[in-house]
Amino acid sequence: MPAQLPVPAEAARAGFAHVQLGEKDRIVTIRPPLDGGTVLITGASSGIGRQFAAQLAARAGTLVVVARRAGLLEGLRADLVAAHPRLQVAAVPVDLSDERDVDRGMTAVREQVGAVDVLINNAGLGGQALFDAADWTRTRQVLHTNVVAVAQLTALLVPSMVERGRGGVLNMGSGAGLTVMPAAAAYSASKHFVDGFSEALRADLAGACSDPRRVRATRAHCYLSANAGAATRTAAHPARMARPGRPWQTCPPS
Ligand SMILES: NC(=O)c1ccc[n+]([C@@H]2O[C@H](COP(=O)([O-])OP(=O)(O)OC[C@H]3O[C@@H](n4cnc5c(N)ncnc54)[C@H](OP(=O)(O)O)[C@@H]3O)[C@@H](O)[C@H]2O)c1
Repeated sequence: MPAQLPVPAEAARAGFAHVQLGEKDRIVTIRPPLDGGTVLITGASSGIGRQFAAQLAARAGTLVVVARRAGLLEGLRADLVAAHPRLQVAAVPVDLSDERDVDRGMTAVREQVGAVDVLINNAGLGGQALFDAADWTRTRQVLHTNVVAVAQLTALLVPSMVERGRGGVLNMGSGAGLTVMPAAAAYSASKHFVDGFSEALRADLAGACSDPRRVRATRAHCYLSANAGAATRTAAHPARMARPGRPWQTCPPS
């Protein structure tokens, strides 16, 4: 089990992380492909997702903001463009609990901005109710939004990242995924999924990136991180969201 290495403050501010990889204790500096890239953020109409958009606006070339409330997305788009005139912002209303709407939304994204470089699966919702008393419609919505949509968006967007040798995925977890929360069984289980999915996906992507030809040809930096729910405290800075023992991982730079 590789130990996590400290991230220097200035490197963390710039979006870098140091991680240890493989058996040779290699230290690799990584840089998520945010700068000038196309970043899709789900749940951008409020809360942490909106903060992601605000913080990444200075670095991304294009932001795609996704949520259901079209009016809030349009307001966000106007604010971001006013503050960052060179930034392109696509506001794409999608109900992530509806698989067909996700397909439709991602077709619209392809048409409007082309390929996505970084996927931030941030949207999520929960509820407080004993499972046996919970409303099934709400439970279903929690599971579809927090679980199915995360996998569906990954399936739709990551193959193109691997093909281009450039990409990253950040999945929003929660402390509820590290323990069990009474009266929030579906939410807690959904965040356990996010953790397990992220870890396995990270291994899959590390394999994809370990092909030296691909890395050299494309100068790819791939990364993946699972968050442990510290996003509010850390002001949603992606570089600070790797949790102890589960560092960001990347292929070595070419
Ligand atoms: N805040 C915390 O303390 C905390 C702690 C641990 C983990 N988290 C996680 O962090 C993430 C963001 O939480 P938050 O606190 O920022 O929540 P929030 O303010 O309630 O925002 C949730 C976002 O998800 C979007 N969303 C919900 N259901 C959706 C659906 N069916 N389709 C499309 N978008 C949907 C909402 O947009 P619309 O309503 O416009 O669709 C909204 O933009 C979640 O995954 C949450 O589990 C938060």
